[in-house]
Amino acid sequence: EPNAPAEPPVGVGLDGLRSAASGCRACELWEPATQTVFGEGPETARIVFVGEQPGDQEDRRGEPFVGPAGRLLDKALADAGIDRRDAYITNAVKHFRFTAKGKRRIHQTPGPEHLRACRPWLEAEFAVLQPEVVVCLGATAAKALISPSFRITKDRGQLLPWTPPAVTDAVDDGHQEADDDEPDEGAPAQTWMLATTHPSAILRTPDEAREAAYDALVADLTVVAGALA
Ligand code: URA
Repeated sequence: EPNAPAEPPVGVGLDGLRSAASGCRACELWEPATQTVFGEGPETARIVFVGEQPGDQEDRRGEPFVGPAGRLLDKALADAGIDRRDAYITNAVKHFRFTAKGKRRIHQTPGPEHLRACRPWLEAEFAVLQPEVVVCLGATAAKALISPSFRITKDRGQLLPWTPPAVTDAVDDGHQEADDDEPDEGAPAQTWMLATTHPSAILRTPDEAREAAYDALVADLTVVAGALA
């Protein structure tokens, strides 16, 4: 039996999207996962962070970036002068993909089919938030949102002009009509995209190189903070 595609409701805000996504069956990941982990943060956020998918702890708690990677991200945000409470944090895929090894659950990178199935939720989040800057955390988000050929090591830390996905009826947040030519009052004049290392990659970096990897993340986040100033 085919999965029903994700169809985010229109004009319901982030809370309405979150509750609709809790029942999503657009791919098979919902079944072994504990719950949908939707994005979190204020509707007024000017920055949106997009990770890959929830990890083990996020899956259990139902919140993004609350495990080891989240703690590293919190510290890096603080060091870059960004208050996490002013940002919206989400993932490209909203269910945890893993393989069970005894009692342990081992992270598996989501496949293109999972990214595709989950994409309407991410686009609906963008449509409500109308962010000024979108930050891709790691290659999965960057390849999905910027280009499949994007290389974090080569292209990280650059502010790229970015056109948010067209607001169609399916993701219309009620502020903007898909077929009217008037610029949307709430929309920023320019949206920027920037990609940087995934916090989990820094945790996996060998001891002797970890501090430099962390400093490079903070430097990229400082560029983000500067774009908002
Ligand atoms: N890694 C991610 O990409 N997202 C999370 O929410 C946690 C870890």
